[in-house]
Amino acid sequence: MNICVLPGDGIGPEIVAEAVRVLQALELGCELETALLGGCAVDATGEPYPEATRRLAEQADAILLGAVGGPQWDRLPRHQRPERGLLAIRQQLGLFANLRPAVLYPELADASTLKPEVVAGLDILIVRELTGDIYFGQPRGIESREINGRLQRYGFNTMHYDESEIRRILQVAFEAARKRRRKLCSVDKMNVLETTQLWRDVANETAADYPDVELSHQLVDNAAMQLVRNPKQFDVIVTGNLFGDILSDEAAMLTGSIGMLPSASLDEHNKGLYEPCHGSAPDIAGKGLANPLATILSVAMMLRYTFANESAASHIESAVKKVLAQGYRTADIDQPGAQRVGTRAMGDAVLAAL
Ligand code: IPM
Ligand code: MG
Repeated sequence: MNICVLPGDGIGPEIVAEAVRVLQALELGCELETALLGGCAVDATGEPYPEATRRLAEQADAILLGAVGGPQWDRLPRHQRPERGLLAIRQQLGLFANLRPAVLYPELADASTLKPEVVAGLDILIVRELTGDIYFGQPRGIESREINGRLQRYGFNTMHYDESEIRRILQVAFEAARKRRRKLCSVDKMNVLETTQLWRDVANETAADYPDVELSHQLVDNAAMQLVRNPKQFDVIVTGNLFGDILSDEAAMLTGSIGMLPSASLDEHNKGLYEPCHGSAPDIAGKGLANPLATILSVAMMLRYTFANESAASHIESAVKKVLAQGYRTADIDQPGAQRVGTRAMGDAVLAAL
């Protein structure tokens, strides 16, 4: 079990440290190697995804990532931005299947901005396509062009999918739905965008291989509304890269805190990059305040998906449930009467529960 650890920027190093402690406590014989990705890599090497990191990530069985980005790098040329490192590693390793579960822990029902009865028992899985779409489409850029007789700046991106890219992510989503409540909702914008008309057609074709799963379709604007109106109608949602980026943040917030949500990005052989859904939170970086649970739960996803060790995965998840039941809360999920803790103490509590 070779794991490449990429702490990244902001709160990344703090939360990854806790997740690594949890992983080591399980004594599964993992080999860990740490490398640079994101802003810290730009500072050290001038590039957000340096060659040394690329080699380690390629050789590893799995990758654990904290978060990348921060305001100090936002003015750099686009190819040097930390986010570019993240997009490059996803694309280069072919991590096309992004799984983002949004689960509401009963203890945190009050932390959601939605009414408890709307979110109680929520358990959604968003399957987001991660290596295609307008995120990577060419041509793209900002250029000077003569428009209406005047030289103007002109920005453009290209949205595209080929049918094999759509089919393979649909297959991942149908398989996931099979292991859950057998309901899959495919989200597109077929009333306006041809790319997503193709998406819908391929979804319908793929459904023929999964007669046991109920497939429905929603337009993305409606899906955004339905997620706050009645989120419990969803089991698995599958969608493209851009829509999935937006809907997964929305779904995360239903659960009270994005600080609780792990994610997996898998290639065709279940090699994966595991990271919390939240970002690098520069405002609280280095203060020991960040919630490490999403990263710890990302380790559980790693054990489940890449290493097929379901018992170790559920062991971690039970430990997290236990610390929540014991009342431990970081600032993002704090409640009256709770036991307020920082990053390290939350890690300690999970280790004790393990
Ligand atoms: C995410 C993030 C990234 C994305 C950014 C940091 C490039 O928002 O993982 O959802 O847009 O994919
Ligand atoms: Mg996002």
